[in-house]
Amino acid sequence: MAAAASVPESLAGVGTTAIGVALIRARETGREDRLYADPFAQAFADAARDAFLDPSAPPGSADTWATVGRLVDVFYEGRSVATRFFDDYLLDAVATGCEQVVILGAGLDTRAFRLAWPKAVDLFEVDLPEMFSFKEEILGTRDAAPACRRVVVPCDLRDDWAAALHGAGFRDGVPTAWLAEGVLGYVPREAARRVLTTAGAMTPAGSRFSCEHIRPDSPGLDGIRKLLGQEQTARPPGGLGPDAPEWLAEQGWEPRFRPHPELTESYGREGGGSPDNGYLTAVRT
Ligand SMILES: C[S@@+](CC[C@H](N)C(=O)[O-])C[C@H]1O[C@@H](n2cnc3c(N)ncnc32)[C@H](O)[C@@H]1O
Repeated sequence: MAAAASVPESLAGVGTTAIGVALIRARETGREDRLYADPFAQAFADAARDAFLDPSAPPGSADTWATVGRLVDVFYEGRSVATRFFDDYLLDAVATGCEQVVILGAGLDTRAFRLAWPKAVDLFEVDLPEMFSFKEEILGTRDAAPACRRVVVPCDLRDDWAAALHGAGFRDGVPTAWLAEGVLGYVPREAARRVLTTAGAMTPAGSRFSCEHIRPDSPGLDGIRKLLGQEQTARPPGGLGPDAPEWLAEQGWEPRFRPHPELTESYGREGGGSPDNGYLTAVRT
């Protein structure tokens, strides 16, 4: 299968992490007591598995696939709660006035298709070009029809992503809900913070932002660094940083932190880990 065999190449590096999240969503969707349903997650998972295990795949692909499977076990509970939390965040943001949604590092996110948007909304998915080459091909095989106006914006968040977003039809001055789910940790701190200052300059008061806020020593993060081949490197720290709430407040966002265990309980799940880990939502003031 020529198309499938190209997947490891197009998803090499950080894109592999998006496959892991799709596997988590496929597993959650199969549960009777699921927190959400993602009808496309299994298709992404199947195509990725076929490609990574194809005999013609690049050397090491089968090992990478096994590593992704182990990380899925580690992150399953946390990412399931996170997905549901960010679903609720976006639906509430649109219901209360946001007319645009920007999903930064969208990966294999299918909210454009699977959420019941309360009103017409323009939804922009930003990710690296190679991610969309995989994603759009799979969605095409499923005749997927978005429930909103969906625009993909292939670009790098370390570059001039704002220009790409404007080119894709983003309107400055319109209340917007921004989501950065599982992405800013892969972007060096300075660039990650620039993402937020840029987003703040593009959107008016009442706009929203959300991302996870986790300790750098959280369980499983070492596994991701190993998967990405970074365990030996002193790469610059990424994400908004441990003082993200204070920093956001200084930039004109009113932040609120929701501890992960609190949400785990509210969704009827067990476990929850450290109350220092959780989610930030912020309103542009
Ligand atoms: C862990 S995945 C999360 C994907 C998605 N938000 C989700 O939760 O399913 C991280 C995503 O960030 C994207 N990403 C990482 N660095 C990026 C960058 N510099 N610019 C754009 N996207 C990036 C990857 O391609 C990948 O899709």
